[in-house]
Parts: sequence; C-alpha cells; structure tokens
Amino acid sequence: MWKTTTVILVLTIGIALLLRNNPVDVADLPETFWGPEKNKGASKEIRPFIINIPKSVIDDLNERLAKKRELVEPLEDAAWTYGISTTYLNDILEHWHSKYNWSERQTLLNKYPQYITNIQGLDIHFYRVKPYIPPDRKNIKIFPLLITHGWPGSVVEFQKIIPILTTPRPDRDFVFEVIAPSLPGYGFSQAAVRPGLGPPQISVIFKNLMLRLGFNKFYAQGGDWGSIITMHLGGLFPDNILGAHMNMCSTLGKSSTLWLLLGTLVPQLVVENQYYSRMYPLSDHLSRLLEETGYLHIQASKPDTIGTAVAASPVGLAGYILEKFSTWTNKEYKLRPDGGLLEKYTLDELLDNVMLYWVTNSLTTSVRIYAEQFSKRHMSSRIDEVPVDVPTACANFPHELAYQSESLLRNKFTNLIQFNHLSRGGHFAAFEEPGLLADDIFEFVSKVENERKKADNKDAPNTGKKIKEPTKI
Ligand SMILES: *[C@@H]1O[C@H](CO)[C@@H](O)[C@H](O)[C@H]1NC(C)=O
Repeated sequence: MWKTTTVILVLTIGIALLLRNNPVDVADLPETFWGPEKNKGASKEIRPFIINIPKSVIDDLNERLAKKRELVEPLEDAAWTYGISTTYLNDILEHWHSKYNWSERQTLLNKYPQYITNIQGLDIHFYRVKPYIPPDRKNIKIFPLLITHGWPGSVVEFQKIIPILTTPRPDRDFVFEVIAPSLPGYGFSQAAVRPGLGPPQISVIFKNLMLRLGFNKFYAQGGDWGSIITMHLGGLFPDNILGAHMNMCSTLGKSSTLWLLLGTLVPQLVVENQYYSRMYPLSDHLSRLLEETGYLHIQASKPDTIGTAVAASPVGLAGYILEKFSTWTNKEYKLRPDGGLLEKYTLDELLDNVMLYWVTNSLTTSVRIYAEQFSKRHMSSRIDEVPVDVPTACANFPHELAYQSESLLRNKFTNLIQFNHLSRGGHFAAFEEPGLLADDIFEFVSKVENERKKADNKDAPNTGKKIKEPTKI
C-alpha cells in the first residue's frame, strides 16, 4: 500500500512540476466576423431597444400550452430525483397559461434602459444602467461593471442586483454603472452563423462592446459561463480589466487536475481542513458531478439535436431549464415535491427567464457554447491556461456545484485578493442572493481601489501587458 502511494505521489508531483514549467504562446485572438453576410458593413451605432413581443407570438404560446399533451406521471415519491417532477411541472404550466401575464412582465423587463449594437457582425443586446447620484454625493466615483450571465440563465437573473449595484452606499466612495449583455445566441443577442464562438471569443466581443461604449477600463463580474468569460477578459485584456470578480471560479488547466488527485493522498497540500468536505472524498464529488452533468455531455457533443428536441414545445423548454434552477440552487431540493423552486424565486421570474428562450427560439444557439468549449480546436489552443494577473475575487457560495480551493486557484489567478465563503446561496448567486453578491463585489472593488491608491502614491511602474502582444504563459 505504502509503495503504491509513494509511487503515485512522486509521479503526480513530477508531472505537476513539469506542467507548471511548460510555457506556451497563445496567439492573440482575431476579431472574427461572426454574423451573416448581410451584416457586413453594419453600422456601429448604439440603438435603444425595448422588448416588444408581437401578440401573435404570445397567442401561439398560449395555444400550445392549452393543447399540451398529457405528461407522463413521475414514479411514486421520486420528487425531482429522476429529473423534473411532472406533477409540479403541471402546476407551473397551469400558472404560465392562466396567471402569468406577459404584458406586465415585459414592462418590468423594460424597466432599465436597453440597447443593441453590432459587434463583429452580431447584434448584441445589453442593459446599460447608470447610477442615481444624489446631490450630496457629487464626488462619488463611477466604475463601469460588465456583468455576464451563463446557461440556462439570461439577463433576467440581474433584475434584482442592478439597482443594488447602481445605488451609492454611505460607506463607499464609488458606485457602478452596470452593463449586462445577453451572450451571443441568447435572448436578444444574435447567434454566430459559423463554428468557433466559445467563451474566449465572447470575451473579445464583450471587450469590444465596452470599448464601443467608451469604457477603456472596467470591472468584470460573472457566474457560470459568465465567470469563464470574465476569466478570459482578465487573462487576455489586462490593460482593460480593473478587476475580475467571479462567483464560480475554476482553473480549467491540467495541473489543477493533478493537484486534485494529489489531494486524495495528502489533502493538506490542496485544501484547508475546514473546506475539506467541499472537495473530498473525491469519489463522492465525482459521482455527484457525473449525476448532474449529463446535460453537459450531450450539449457539448450534439447541441443541435438536444436544442431541437427541447425547444420544440414550451413544456419541454420549461422542464429542461427549470430542473437546473432546482438542483443548482441546492442539491437537496431535488428531494422536495416542488423542487424548492419557490425558496429563492417566484414562478413569474423563473418563467421570465424561460420566456427569453422561448420568444427568441434560442435554446439551440445557447447550448452550442458547450460544443465550442469542448471542441478540439479550443482544447488544443490551451487558452484556458493563460494566467490571470489582474486583481481577482472568487465568491464561494455554499451550494455551488463544484469547489476549487484557494491554493488550486492561485495557480491560475496570480493576484487573487479576495476569496470569501458566503453564508448562503448556490449557483445563481445574482438571482437568488443579489444582496450578498453585491456586498462581495463592493468589498472587492474597494480593495482593488485601495491597492491602486497605495501603488499610485509609490508611483509604481505600470506592469500591465499590452493588448496586441501574444500572451506568454
Ligand atoms: C395583464 O396585465 C395588463 C397590465 O397590467 C392588463 O391590462 C391586462 O388586463 C392583464 N391581462 C390579463 C389577462 O389579466
């Protein structure tokens, strides 16, 4: 036993060290034109946008809901353990059909100013919300903050956090102007017409969006795919990113896998004792991940097949999307008859999110991001291994699906200045715990700004990388 352990230990350390000292050049990402031919020469103007879905689309939806096929009954006492409970889905569909009022919900979604502008051939939709500055706070600083959602979410997730981020606080001398785009292929943002638009390429589009709006330097925040995109923004555009705040930090590099394995033998090398159970025993976590990530494999390999099936009816779409809002909010919720959905959300706001996928028919284009992330082209680019040297924060919510320890993350995020463990919340932090997430963002930005003030006082040289040069790792 000891012999095997020692051999594994030595091998793992050896390979880990080898990988650590294996620099590669990552070519600068091209400014690819992702749109259809007819978008060539599209104007660069920023057009105001208001959601205004034709009545015919809503009537059609209601007809489909009225004519829905009877759902297959769930197994006795299965709750949500076999996937969404069709018993509860029936209640949701009933609410959608008879109580959910789109014209009211649409008005709410139009509460904040929205725009569309064409970037690299794609019409990109975004909220842009300026802070309200009371007369006695005229000297307050305003920082642009790009917040990015993931799958199966949308800008609906940000409706509650936007006013918190744009409202000055008595104890902070800054506040945010929030820019919240829809990912390409999600909601009202156009989808690429050719392969290759994965998270790093989306980070190029969003950087260009911010430059278009006149924001040369900005903070970035994200969860789910939004956190991966935020990570790439920090790694690829350090001259533009003041700080990167993520509520799902991950290192996608190979060396973190090796450290993870090493931790099965000597956990103290990888994770503090108090967070041991968030990562180990590894077999428990891997089997749970396996149980919860079947969607990922199918979306990565056959996105258009699953997209077609799911998006063919409002019933399929709601079932597929809402299952995630149960399990990813808290894995124990799948044991409850109602999937715990109403613990953190209202049915109306959950359906708002489903509606953005329905009215734009964007489920298929939304899941293609998985295929891009797991494509050979992306994997061989090693772009995920680019270190992030800008100030970084990771907000660890207790019910997040996966956890990586601070020491693992430091391999990737060389300037990790905040690593908080929050008291409650799961995967959809902005949606379920907007106050907690906003507090964490304010705390982070305050730290970054204090560091910057100190550095300015010392007149420290600027060591930021240039945008156009290939990044060395
Ligand atoms: C939906 O809400 C609008 C605006 O409040 C209202 O005028 C309309 O009557 C409502 N529709 C239904 C079916 O309740």
